[in-house]
Amino acid sequence: MLKKLGTNYLDLLYIHAPWADVNWQEAIPQIDELIEEGVVREFGVSNFTITDMQGAQQLAKHQIVANQMNYNVLYKTEIDDNFRKYCQNNNIQIVAYQPVKRQEVLADKVIEEIAMNHSVSPAQIALAWLLCQNAIPIPKAINKHHIDENIEAVNITLSEKDLVALNILGA
Ligand SMILES: NC(=O)c1ccc[n+]([C@@H]2O[C@H](COP(=O)([O-])OP(=O)(O)OC[C@H]3O[C@@H](n4cnc5c(N)ncnc54)[C@H](OP(=O)(O)O)[C@@H]3O)[C@@H](O)[C@H]2O)c1
Repeated sequence: MLKKLGTNYLDLLYIHAPWADVNWQEAIPQIDELIEEGVVREFGVSNFTITDMQGAQQLAKHQIVANQMNYNVLYKTEIDDNFRKYCQNNNIQIVAYQPVKRQEVLADKVIEEIAMNHSVSPAQIALAWLLCQNAIPIPKAINKHHIDENIEAVNITLSEKDLVALNILGA
């Protein structure tokens, strides 16, 4: 992995998922070891429920610092108040994958209207909403215009009225 990425260390290494057919528990001492060797800086998990995070924390020697979850303004099902509180209390950063729902946010009328009011794009509103939830969005973009737009989203300030409208969207 290091060779492919042209680096000699990784800032953050995630366990991809706690699916039942994967023995993710056995990766934990291996990641601990990589942290001790300096190959990996931080320990992350992904798609982990509260129960999964508790299991991982019991096995891991090092702090789990991030949980990468499917989370966007149109899909909020996995991130309820309990989940958020648990992450907050345990210093686990929520990282939002599929933050623009693979472009589905572009077609939403409410998001579109808020975007027009701010003179920005719907994708930027979706990213700004995640930032307001203290989640770190990781949009995938190969188009240079998209990349530039996504970086700019950190400068958008959503109003209380915007947030009320966005909070009730989706599942
Ligand atoms: N942990 C997991 O289980 C898991 C699962 C799925 C995905 N992920 C990760 O999450 C990251 C993103 O997920 P994703 O690619 O599935 O979904 P995504 O970021 O929601 O959507 C990517 C799509 O949105 C477009 N896009 C990005 N920025 C845009 C903008 N400003 N305006 C218009 N379109 C824009 C991209 O187009 P262009 O590429 O043409 O710019 C691409 O078609 C990836 O790094 C992926 O590896 C993790």
